[in-house]
Amino acid sequence: MSGTNVQDAVRQKYGEIARSVGQSGCCRPTACGCSDPITSDLYSASETAVLPDNAVAASLGCGNPTALIELQPGQTVLDLGSGGGIDVLLSARRVGPTGRVYGLDMTDEMLALARENQRKAGVTNVEFLKGTIEAIPLPDRSVDVIISNCVINLSVDKDSVLREAFRVLKPGGRFAVSDVVIRGDVPSDVRRSLELWVGCIAGALEEKVYDAKLRAAGFVDVDLDPWRVYQIHDARAFLAESGIDVDKIAPQVDGKVASAFIRARKPEASACCSPTCCS
Ligand SMILES: C[S@@+](CC[C@H](N)C(=O)[O-])C[C@H]1O[C@@H](n2cnc3c(N)ncnc32)[C@H](O)[C@@H]1O
Repeated sequence: MSGTNVQDAVRQKYGEIARSVGQSGCCRPTACGCSDPITSDLYSASETAVLPDNAVAASLGCGNPTALIELQPGQTVLDLGSGGGIDVLLSARRVGPTGRVYGLDMTDEMLALARENQRKAGVTNVEFLKGTIEAIPLPDRSVDVIISNCVINLSVDKDSVLREAFRVLKPGGRFAVSDVVIRGDVPSDVRRSLELWVGCIAGALEEKVYDAKLRAAGFVDVDLDPWRVYQIHDARAFLAESGIDVDKIAPQVDGKVASAFIRARKPEASACCSPTCCS
């Protein structure tokens, strides 16, 4: 599939999921069915209690990026691929009325759902923007913190995403995202099956490659923390349904896919190596 086709497939898939939110018949509209070990149990009861039901029901992440980083009142936050808006709404409470949170998404149905959730939550320091994470529609050095939840793995152009994230961050700004990563070598056919299981249409990055790409974009203090490592039993039903001999590939699969917290920082202006490197 070409890059454009992959992006169209992602948009179509998440448009369908957004339309299904709030309808009966499925416990959660996840990418991988009703009992998805990736998207389950990510938020505390005290967090979800203050959110509209459909913001919680539309949660499709693989972590809780708002728990990764301390947000300060007055900060500007950007959520890459904001979906139904759960992390935007949680962040809006933390930055308070003097702060601002942008949710960026390319799928019209997700934006409509997020705006409806914003209206129900009665939150005004939030704006949902239409656009792609490969070409962020915000000015240079305008954001204090970038969060994202299981979206960068969907991008066909991860270098552009990381370059754009670096561009819009203020010097000293922080990048705190949750994403799916591959750990070490996995045969390519097995890897593709695993990626389909976790919903990574464009492919997850191997953790060392992710680290290198962040540094190449200019980030420092890069830290990847695989906090939920998946075992063969997590993917067994999906792989078996795809006609794969699960027991045969088990040793190559166990522990090879993880949800990771990924943190990095844009250097302070004074720490720049050249007059242009922090632009
Ligand atoms: C797996 S869902 C995650 C949504 C949300 N972050 C959450 O935790 O529930 C992925 C979201 O990212 C959006 N998305 C995927 N690729 C994108 C891209 N290249 N640019 C903008 N949005 C994108 C999709 O439309 C979808 O809403």
